[in-house]
Amino acid sequence: MEASAAKRKEPRKALRIKVISMGNAEVGKSCIIKRYCEKRFVPKYLATIGIDYGVTKVQIRDREIKVNIFDMAGHPFFYEVRNEFYRDTQGVLLVYDVGSKESFEALEAWLAEMRRELGPHGAGLDSVVVAVCANKVDAGKLRVVDESEGRLWAESRGFLYWETSAQSGEGIQEMFQNFYSAIVELCENGGKRPAGGSGAAFTREQADAIRRIRASKDSWDLLGLKPGASREEVTRAYRRLAVLLHPDKCPAPGSEDAFKALGSARAALLRNLP
Ligand code: GTP
Ligand code: MG
Repeated sequence: MEASAAKRKEPRKALRIKVISMGNAEVGKSCIIKRYCEKRFVPKYLATIGIDYGVTKVQIRDREIKVNIFDMAGHPFFYEVRNEFYRDTQGVLLVYDVGSKESFEALEAWLAEMRRELGPHGAGLDSVVVAVCANKVDAGKLRVVDESEGRLWAESRGFLYWETSAQSGEGIQEMFQNFYSAIVELCENGGKRPAGGSGAAFTREQADAIRRIRASKDSWDLLGLKPGASREEVTRAYRRLAVLLHPDKCPAPGSEDAFKALGSARAALLRNLP
């Protein structure tokens, strides 16, 4: 008893972690890191060449954390340099620009690049905390990826989601604080993402259905049917999706609108079917 009490009073060893940044060129990865570490913003674009490396110390609850940050270049040209750096990573800042649909759609390819480099053995992305940063939210009218779309994508994969602006500083402190806390939890949990921790309260199937409904081009497409399907097929497809996305059962962002759209699509189709 006494020995363990004495042990508890000893300061805990600093935790060393490795963090990397990923995302297309020019989305603001280096600026987010600079805003956090140096509290400043540089409007001029200076592309990262290969990798930038920095070390910073932070305090999370009673623990000192030494963070090694590897800020990667987003340009495809630097793939050969980047691929050396994916291993032994505890945290990923996965960044896109809310004014660029292309940078949002590229997130999947960034994860694929990391998975490929980590190889088929090992825990893959399950042992990594991913913070998705929807950056440049200061851009106002130029925004093309809205919050619910980004949040849905991130949270359905068990990732953190933050709206950030390296220019104004919005969301940057909170994002890093939560990101580092989640990494400490992960390390204290033996390197596995704690169940239920940053995990979403909704399923991937629900998120995919909402995304598909939002992108659908007509009522048939919305219900996942081919034009000319029967009344029974319309009703069956509607029921399946309505159960999946009922707002009482599905806390995913956008589920209420998707549920309403389902009802309207069914009504519109049934009106015209024999
Ligand atoms: P690579 O190193 O080439 O992969 O790019 P990066 O993702 O590191 O982008 P970087 O941080 O260099 O920023 C790219 C450009 O976007 C620069 O001109 C920045 O000033 C600008 N920028 C970055 N963050 C923001 C932001 O939050 N708002 C606005 N308005 N501009 C930003
Ligand atoms: Mg950069």
